[in-house]
Amino acid sequence: MSKTLKSVDYGLEKIFDGAQDFLPLLGTDFVEFYVGNAKQAAHFYKTAFGFQSLAYKGLETGSKDEVSYVLQQGKIKLVLTTPLNSKSPINDHLRKHGDGVKVIALWVEDAHKAYEETTKRGAKSYYEPKVHRDKYGEIVTSGIYTYGETVHVFVERKNYNGVFFPGYVAWKSDYNPPSAGLKYIDHMVGNVGWGEMDIWVKWYEEVMGFVNFLSFDDKQIHTEYSALMSKVMSNGNGRIKFPINEPAKAEKRSQIEEYLDFYEDCGVQHLAVATDDIIATVRQLRANGVEFLPPPPQTYYDAIPKRLGSHMELMKEDISVLRELSILVDADEEGYLLQIFTKPVEDRPTLFFEIIQRMGAKGFGAGNFKALFESIEREQANRGTL
Ligand code: FE2
Repeated sequence: MSKTLKSVDYGLEKIFDGAQDFLPLLGTDFVEFYVGNAKQAAHFYKTAFGFQSLAYKGLETGSKDEVSYVLQQGKIKLVLTTPLNSKSPINDHLRKHGDGVKVIALWVEDAHKAYEETTKRGAKSYYEPKVHRDKYGEIVTSGIYTYGETVHVFVERKNYNGVFFPGYVAWKSDYNPPSAGLKYIDHMVGNVGWGEMDIWVKWYEEVMGFVNFLSFDDKQIHTEYSALMSKVMSNGNGRIKFPINEPAKAEKRSQIEEYLDFYEDCGVQHLAVATDDIIATVRQLRANGVEFLPPPPQTYYDAIPKRLGSHMELMKEDISVLRELSILVDADEEGYLLQIFTKPVEDRPTLFFEIIQRMGAKGFGAGNFKALFESIEREQANRGTL
């Protein structure tokens, strides 16, 4: 690939020229989870994470085989889907993987062209372009497989003004917990198998026109016991970021291996969601019962002024509050970022969430990897899976 890396500014600056971009993406459209009980999962995401009721389809709307609840917060849309009978193929997905992300839907201008460009470059088809219509207009979608059984669905919605999709009705609920201030999806991370990271890096470059703009090897991401490698892929306008992890050889089993064992495949490891007030967001999520990874050692917070260097003057947050809430801090040349990671949100130790606030920094918290992974390892040790 001959693309040159210019600059990256989370959705504001282009990574490469639009003319070269055969797959222009306008943003993330929605993320669909296959879950065992969508009604209860929807309650959890509303109560715990502050998502709002947006749309619904099910028996009442003529959907006989599956039910879906659509939740929204800021620009983030989650779709939670459960099969309504044993014939639905969704059961196979659930039996194998448990609850998890099936669809990362990407918002495009032209779903036919997105399908054509990606399949001609080697993408495996999930389904050919199809038109969904109702009285509010039409949406065109098409889909391709990515790692594991995960898929990308391209969504062209320029001729639609309904609440979400044809087939859905507005979901009016009497239960409306307050938003937690989550704004948009910052990045979505995939875990792939041994030796597969570069295969998927190449796939995102060749099939999707993404570029690899950051890499971390096992020398940077390791603890006493385990290691992993990661490469961050970005689309042309910088709005879509997909880091891809693979396990690396070490003394004990890494969190990536644990994920692969329990998801029984490659899949989405975490969704990082952005807030512009992480202290308020995390206070609220904790009060709502969201479980976060255990805190780093207390010396971590003593070392923050040194790690932040000149950014320390710009830092608005009080370190004692960050310590109280176990929020992590990292910095790069351009600024700092604040982040925290939940425990897995289902019983299999698979998918989790990251809450992130960027204050100029464009990295992914590499300076926190060691503290973070040691924290994850303590959890793995508790589960007997280290
Ligand atoms: Fe992340």
